[in-house]
Amino acid sequence: MEQLLAGLRAVGERTRLRILFLLTNGELTVKELTQILNQSQPRVSRHVKLMAEAGIIERYREGAWVFLRLVEDGPSGAIAKFISEIVPDGDEIVAADLQRLGRIRDHRSNRALAYFDQNAEQWDKIRSLHVAEIEVEKAMRHLVGDTRIDQLVDIGTGTGRVLELFAPQAERAVGLDASHEMLAIARQRMEEAGQRHAQVRHGDLYQLPFQAGTVDLVTIHQVLHFLDDPASALTEVARVLAPGGRVLIVDFAPHEQEFLREEQEHRYLGIKHEQIRRWSAGAGLEVTHHESLHPEADKQGGLTVSLWMAVRPGLKGNR
Ligand SMILES: C[S@@+](CC[C@H](N)C(=O)[O-])C[C@H]1O[C@@H](n2cnc3c(N)ncnc32)[C@H](O)[C@@H]1O
Repeated sequence: MEQLLAGLRAVGERTRLRILFLLTNGELTVKELTQILNQSQPRVSRHVKLMAEAGIIERYREGAWVFLRLVEDGPSGAIAKFISEIVPDGDEIVAADLQRLGRIRDHRSNRALAYFDQNAEQWDKIRSLHVAEIEVEKAMRHLVGDTRIDQLVDIGTGTGRVLELFAPQAERAVGLDASHEMLAIARQRMEEAGQRHAQVRHGDLYQLPFQAGTVDLVTIHQVLHFLDDPASALTEVARVLAPGGRVLIVDFAPHEQEFLREEQEHRYLGIKHEQIRRWSAGAGLEVTHHESLHPEADKQGGLTVSLWMAVRPGLKGNR
């Protein structure tokens, strides 16, 4: 009873209700909330603290940024879910908040895309700065195995290396990216590799241009840490996966290299296993494997790379 009352009190106020509703759209930082709500940081932090103490939201610090997300379990999680579902459609305040959230996300993703467009030529060099690529690719091949793949999709394909890696065992292979500059390089790479059945396609990973339940293997190599909303990205992956279909995620393990936010547009300083498990579970995927590869001892500033395999439950072939 006490926890329920504390939860209800914590959301029974205009700004906190707005915060709750905003967080149903994915994780946000305190700074982003202050921009959307147009209130001072101390004021927003006070509301956030109250909601966190009542168990409505969780805060976690990652370098200089504090991320916020809704708690999903227990009575407070139930309150958050219930309230977010009964916000009246067309409420003007909520609509305006969502518009500002959209603008902030557009601005950030435009900056990230500009970074990729500008760095497309050097990307192959930048991507090899951490664990030796040969090790990562060996682990990826091992996890995927050598079975035939009907439909492969490499999301955020960049210069197309992962597409090149798995296209030979796929009937159809598509590399999708939002950066034209990156895609130009990937296209050339596929031509040079003689992988004529592999296509590169311009598109948004939040709206994959594939029918539901049609893809056997999705690869997402070094993409999630750039995204504003990895949970939604994985939900979209789960939509297109066939029953029994798999997604191979490769990304950095948690690290403290704050400069990567400023210089290379990273949003997350690596990704925890628990985080991947939570996002996957929210998307209806089951993580079946996790491993980490550490940088060579002499590689200064090198980051640990983690691999996860997740599966869409169901029997293969049941489309
Ligand atoms: C760090 S690169 C990784 C490229 C490639 N997977 C690799 O490992 O070399 C991230 C890629 O994700 C793409 N990207 C970012 N946001 C995207 C979006 N919303 N839709 C599609 N591609 C996106 C970027 O353009 C960029 O090429």
